[in-house]
Amino acid sequence: MRITTVSSANEVGVLAAQIVAADIHRKPDCVLGLATGETPQAMYRELVRLHREAGLSFQRVTAFALDEYIGLAPDNPNSYSHYLHTHLFRHVNLPASNICLIDGLARDVALECDRYEQQIAEAGGIDLQVLGIGQNGHIGFNEPAMSFARGVHLVELDAVTRADNARFFAHLTEVPRYAISLGIKNILAAKKILLLASGQSKCAPVYQAIRGAVTPRVPASVLQDHPDVMLILDQDAADLL
Ligand code: F6R
Repeated sequence: MRITTVSSANEVGVLAAQIVAADIHRKPDCVLGLATGETPQAMYRELVRLHREAGLSFQRVTAFALDEYIGLAPDNPNSYSHYLHTHLFRHVNLPASNICLIDGLARDVALECDRYEQQIAEAGGIDLQVLGIGQNGHIGFNEPAMSFARGVHLVELDAVTRADNARFFAHLTEVPRYAISLGIKNILAAKKILLLASGQSKCAPVYQAIRGAVTPRVPASVLQDHPDVMLILDQDAADLL
């Protein structure tokens, strides 16, 4: 694992965007796996700026969402489809046919998981997976104690995750109870992983993920087993290292 500490949450995003952009320049038809949430917002802002001001082209890029809530329509402002359109897709030249999202309204969830798994395989796998980390150490929506062997799967969200994500909803009761997420197996299969963390609330999970034992109790700890992981942290998230 390579760890880089920068001064602010915004700097985390700027550096992450530079790395994503460099990978797109190296491989214009690269396959990106994209996290949502608060942490990568600065990265998306910077990617949009690089597209507008520095000619960064997404013309041949393929993008996969990392996860999606069950029960939210794509136009629901809290859905991750909506998030990715709002923060990135609608501002860059990524063709609609290269945007791969999970259907949170799928009637047959198992079928939707299989379809998405297949779509990732057909794209040749993920080249660069961008991740955040939950306060409980989750990556994607792989909650503590879930098997590392899972591919795309249905998740019952942890109480910690629902409480944490309640800040995006009007009330805790509106936070969906289930989601579909890439599994640890999919994440580990990505050729390169970029994990971003900012803020004091992330210093304990970051410490456990990097310095602790590799255990399903701290899902992000599995990244210790991946050969190409870069962590970009702000000083608060790196506080315990
Ligand atoms: C989001 C995701 C989650 C978040 C994590 C951190 O697609 O899969 O693992 O990355 O919960 O969220 P923020 O950045 O909002 O603190």
